[in-house]
Amino acid sequence: MAMKRGATAALWLVAAVAGMLLHADAQTLVYKYYAQKCPAAESIVFDEVQKAWNADRSMPASLLRLHFHDCFVNGCDGSVLLEASDGQAEKNAQPNLSLRGYDVVDRVKARLEATCKQTVSCADILAYAARDSVRVMTGGYKYEVPGGRPDGTVSRASMTGDLPPPKQRNVDQLARYFTSKGLTVDDMVVLSGAHTLGVARCGTFGYRLTSDGDKGMDAAFRNALRKQCNYNSNNVAALDAGSEYGFDTSYYANVLANRTVLESDAALNSPRTLARVTQLRGNQALFTSSFAAAMVKMGGLRGGYAGKVRDNCRRVRT
Ligand code: HEM
Ligand SMILES: *[C@@H]1O[C@H](CO)[C@@H](O)[C@H](O)[C@H]1NC(C)=O
Ligand SMILES: *[C@@H]1O[C@H](CO)[C@@H](O)[C@H](O)[C@H]1NC(C)=O
Repeated sequence: MAMKRGATAALWLVAAVAGMLLHADAQTLVYKYYAQKCPAAESIVFDEVQKAWNADRSMPASLLRLHFHDCFVNGCDGSVLLEASDGQAEKNAQPNLSLRGYDVVDRVKARLEATCKQTVSCADILAYAARDSVRVMTGGYKYEVPGGRPDGTVSRASMTGDLPPPKQRNVDQLARYFTSKGLTVDDMVVLSGAHTLGVARCGTFGYRLTSDGDKGMDAAFRNALRKQCNYNSNNVAALDAGSEYGFDTSYYANVLANRTVLESDAALNSPRTLARVTQLRGNQALFTSSFAAAMVKMGGLRGGYAGKVRDNCRRVRT
């Protein structure tokens, strides 16, 4: 009898856990999610992104990347913002080294807590901030982003293996990082267009610049990068040479001209992706609308550790 009760309890536990997972899965994101709950939510995020942009033109790129890193590790659940007592959270992993923008998120969160306590998730803040980064960098292009992402409770450096590596020339290998999440090769090509903004540290791509380095890179471009890096792995170079502050299609032109800093960007100059790259290069309106759609899709990636809306994005609320 005791054993039977134990087995029943175990079954209940399995059912409860399955129910939770199903619930997290079934939860759909909603446009204007905070219209009633916190009407000022989206405008507060935009205001802070605009202020950050006023102070530092390179900040929107960093906010955009933060949302990507958040979504690719455990779904978009704000886990990239968490700190761990053992110093082994996602943000402490190798790919994080140049992640920034945490202070901008803190400022947004502080204002939101003052306006509507424990209501707007940190995961949603990242999704809106990424949208608003595009908005300020394009001088006004705005796409709608649904909300309602729960904040996650788990953030481990060991989970960041889901992030695609820059040292990858094979487009099929690279694509797996996207298709394994339900995104398509086309989404990859479009989302990589985020590299129209921002920089990479020389330490990330310096191996391509050596004499026996990457022969596929345009020679003049390689020489310019050598000078710019000057053997210092902390120097940076624009991902979209010549246009790092323009949210434009020149990134795709650089891909076709073999003038990309990252090998993973060079990988897009492959038969499988060439047609789409060429199409996007020639059409700014198509690029921005495709980018918006792909961002909404990426912003829908789900994690499995839903918790309470945090009051401080760096800590789980228990
Ligand atoms: C194909 C997959 C991708 C790879 C391998 C990749 C890799 C990288 C690397 C290595 C850097 C530079 C880090 C450093 O050295 O400091 C970087 C920067 C950046 N990435 Fe990606 N990335 C990918 C996709 C994406 C996506 C999907 C987004 C956003 C939608 C994105 C947004 C950015 C931005 C905006 C920067 C510049 C950040 C800044 O200036 O602070 N990346 N990426
Ligand atoms: C990223 O990780 C490194 C090394 O693990 C750590 O020293 C650094 O503080 C982290 N960066 C951020 C912004 O958390
Ligand atoms: C880019 O590199 C590829 C091979 O890696 C080469 O076939 C192509 O001609 C190069 N394109 C330009 C514009 O240099």
